[in-house]
Amino acid sequence: MCGIVGYVGESEKRQILLEGLKELEYRGYDSAGIAVISKDILQSFKAVGKLKNLEEKTKNFSANGFGVAIGHTRWATHGKPTELNAHPHLGKESYVVHNGIIENYQELKKRLLQKGVNFLSQTDTEVIVHLFEDYLSLLKDSFKAFEKTIQELEGAYAILLITKIEPDTIFFAKNGSPLLIAKGDDGIYFASSDTAVIGKAKRAYYLEDGEWGYVKKDEITLFDKEGNKKELEFKDLPSDKLSAQKDGYRFFMEKEIYEQSSVVVDTMMGRVLEDDIHLDEIKEGFLDGINAIKICACGTSFHSAMAASYLFERIAKIRCDVEIASEFRYKEPLLSKDTLFITISQSGETADTLEALKMAKRAGLKSLTICNVDNSSIVRESDVALLTRAGIEKGVASTKAFATQTLLLWIFVLFLAKKRGVVSKEFLVNEIKAMQMLPRVLEVSDKLHEKIHRLSKRYLHGHGFFFIGRDIFYPLALEGALKLKEISYLHAEGYPAGEMKHGPIALADSNLFTIALMPKTMLYDKIKSNVEELSARDATILAISPIEFELADDFIKTNFSSHPMIEFFEMMVILQLLALEIAIRLGNDVDMPRNLAKSVTVE
Ligand code: F6R
Repeated sequence: MCGIVGYVGESEKRQILLEGLKELEYRGYDSAGIAVISKDILQSFKAVGKLKNLEEKTKNFSANGFGVAIGHTRWATHGKPTELNAHPHLGKESYVVHNGIIENYQELKKRLLQKGVNFLSQTDTEVIVHLFEDYLSLLKDSFKAFEKTIQELEGAYAILLITKIEPDTIFFAKNGSPLLIAKGDDGIYFASSDTAVIGKAKRAYYLEDGEWGYVKKDEITLFDKEGNKKELEFKDLPSDKLSAQKDGYRFFMEKEIYEQSSVVVDTMMGRVLEDDIHLDEIKEGFLDGINAIKICACGTSFHSAMAASYLFERIAKIRCDVEIASEFRYKEPLLSKDTLFITISQSGETADTLEALKMAKRAGLKSLTICNVDNSSIVRESDVALLTRAGIEKGVASTKAFATQTLLLWIFVLFLAKKRGVVSKEFLVNEIKAMQMLPRVLEVSDKLHEKIHRLSKRYLHGHGFFFIGRDIFYPLALEGALKLKEISYLHAEGYPAGEMKHGPIALADSNLFTIALMPKTMLYDKIKSNVEELSARDATILAISPIEFELADDFIKTNFSSHPMIEFFEMMVILQLLALEIAIRLGNDVDMPRNLAKSVTVE
């Protein structure tokens, strides 16, 4: 997602910041900016688009001699990717860069607006700098003002702040978003990821949540959450940049599977409250008169849509049809204006989905997109965009995009259900409780990964895989099969478990691998008898379930849960890891599978 760099020292600062930001480019961004205080002069530059635009804008700028400098690449979450929304954000005489999301920014903004503060951007970040300056005018002490500011912030943040009042200092704070301090020969560096400082510094301190402090020339002062002074324990930095980008994982896909546990926190932030669902993006009246939902998407996004269609009908009591975008386009569909047209897309550029959306708009339908890339074509074309906030997805095989799409659809289903008055408060609170378990559910344990790694060696041959499930676990079976075929090149199909006996069971023999999704909370007995039928025909069964299943050749035990969505997400991770481990054993390039592109902008 966004990237942060900072520097306190004598070397030329433009160069240092641009080089650092370049190393963070792989995380994705849509605008960038820097701010520097050197010789008491405060200067800042911002540009939309690629870093070369910022390079061009700053080509006549340089800052030698002692000074402080901060830089940022922004991946839009609150507000469009414009220059005004790009970081650093300016107060009167201070600048801030921030990664994460300030959950209570609206409350803080309201308070500051009442005091006459002028806001220039649509971002949550801008409140930080104004709040700091507000405290500064009150307390006349920048250290105390910074302390007070971070005490008021709720949500996730990595923050660097500079101010003309203290021109030799960078204030920093970290909670939930990564930030490190590194010691170089020529000064002290900050970065949101170590790739930005490899080659410049040899040792770094990775800040912990709740830590904050300030850096001056050759002096680092660190405090914990309670305000106690802390020693910094520096660690050696890795020397290889590519593996640092992968944070030590073998492939980006693997890293993205592990990231799911943290990106869902971003997806929920400000939307899933203690006992309510809030979607800022949907203005009052937008859903009035809507009596049906039509979703169009492709590939993995289509599977997420399919899973959500069960939830729309079951929870929000609204008719929901899902169609593959490339089919929808040419079927001369009958569309009525009381239908909300939803598109789902990681990239926001998929040609078939975009064209389907344009058709729906021509027919006068209201449109909403669930998308990962702000300002993408689909976002621009839609009336409302709900951003998944998964950060850039580099692995061609989609993982964290699927997780965040499905979660955001679940959130939207609850929002709609509440609006339609078809769910009780108690039901809503229960769903929220289940949702809040997701970060833990999505954590990959070493034990699980190791088990799947060992199992995978038994699944490298055979004449094909059937992934089977029922209800929401049927689209999950489709997704499991898609993941496997994309990166292993083995034939795999997803099927509704109850449908096997209507034909596909003819294929059953010991070389047919069946991956059976057997959740406890959803039609367990039904799927059990479907799997028994396959086992009776000698199919090799890998059962995934919280309940031991004696006919299984292999068994992955999940946790007991009382909520189907928790079982869904737990099984999703297992299927992703299984595909990954099989593909790695087969020696394939997991991140760039043959014949596939990350963004399909052609028909
Ligand atoms: C599968 C995968 C593709 C995409 C599909 C739609 O791992 O990545 O199936 O899901 O091409 O792409 P988006 O979501 O960008 O519209």
